[in-house]
Amino acid sequence: MTAIIEARDLGRDYEVGGGLFSKPGIVRAVAETSFSVEAGRTLAVVGESGCGKSTLARLVTMIEEPTSGSFYLDGKEVTKDRWRELRSDIQIVFQDPYGSLNLRQKVGAILEEPLKINRPKMSAKERHEKGREMMRLVGLREEHYDRFPHMFSGGQRQRIAVARALMLEPKLLVLDEPVSALDLSIQSQILNLLNDLQERMNLAYLFISHDLSVVRHVADDILVMYLGRPVEFGPKDEIFEAPRHPYTKALISATPSADPANRRERIKLVGELPSPLAVPPGCPFAPRCWKTEEKCRAERPQLTGTPHPAACFFPEN
Ligand SMILES: Nc1ncnc2c1ncn2[C@@H]1O[C@H](COP(=O)(O)OP(=O)(O)OP(=O)(O)O)[C@@H](O)[C@H]1O
Ligand SMILES: [Mg+2]
Repeated sequence: MTAIIEARDLGRDYEVGGGLFSKPGIVRAVAETSFSVEAGRTLAVVGESGCGKSTLARLVTMIEEPTSGSFYLDGKEVTKDRWRELRSDIQIVFQDPYGSLNLRQKVGAILEEPLKINRPKMSAKERHEKGREMMRLVGLREEHYDRFPHMFSGGQRQRIAVARALMLEPKLLVLDEPVSALDLSIQSQILNLLNDLQERMNLAYLFISHDLSVVRHVADDILVMYLGRPVEFGPKDEIFEAPRHPYTKALISATPSADPANRRERIKLVGELPSPLAVPPGCPFAPRCWKTEEKCRAERPQLTGTPHPAACFFPEN
């Protein structure tokens, strides 16, 4: 089976600061990031704030161009001159539906807009029908087609955002913290909805989250990022049951476990996340790691090893 998306050594640098008397610095928001996602599967991207998750989302949704590497959509290389042709195959849902929906538009207009722009041959009647069908599919009432977003609850608004993202029948949905702004009780409803839609439409998901208890429910595979780079990549069960990178282990140990028999000792990370403008040489995690040896400070470990790759000289197991 070919992957819906395949990324090879994707990277994005930003120039920051710099003025009359100082040179600008370079932030490597994302570097050397490779992964692939097949139809019907979910890859979760996890890591602390600032590790590059949203930047990665902006690259694959063609909001921004990578500064290095390449990626392929259904086998076609995505280059800027193909953005127009390929964009509708990848849609994104953001954390905050209040910020991402046009509050002056009625739900119907919000849903029909992508069709108006991308399917010029479609009649108004067809657009309307498709919009109402999508309302049903995401669990909203068709009678509410003429309501404004503020008349819905937070969870319902996120359903609207999901519906809009699916109007063009994309192959890949990028979900950037899609439930982080919602109450816990609503979160599981939205996660169940996403699960149903994935099965029904055979969608590939790139699911971005800092919350491993959410990821545990949705992921098939997990990519752990640290300061812009992948540090571990593998099947969900392997990652949760036998994390190889100390950073992954620390992240998992900080996730509350519902099962008291399964309580792990919580690993407290010492030290602060380094500034992205001054990433230490060697392993970027070394300053916070309890296993650090001289080698770790001198050389950067490659993402490698079995049963799944991790970027660490002294991995677990
Ligand atoms: N446009 C930009 N210009 C300069 N630096 C940027 C820009 N966008 C992101 N960065 C930097 O790139 C790094 C990665 O940011 P990004 O927003 O991708 O992280 P994130 O993992 O999504 O974080 P969060 O969990 O807080 O959403 C950060 O150090 C950030 O400050
Ligand atoms: Mg983000």
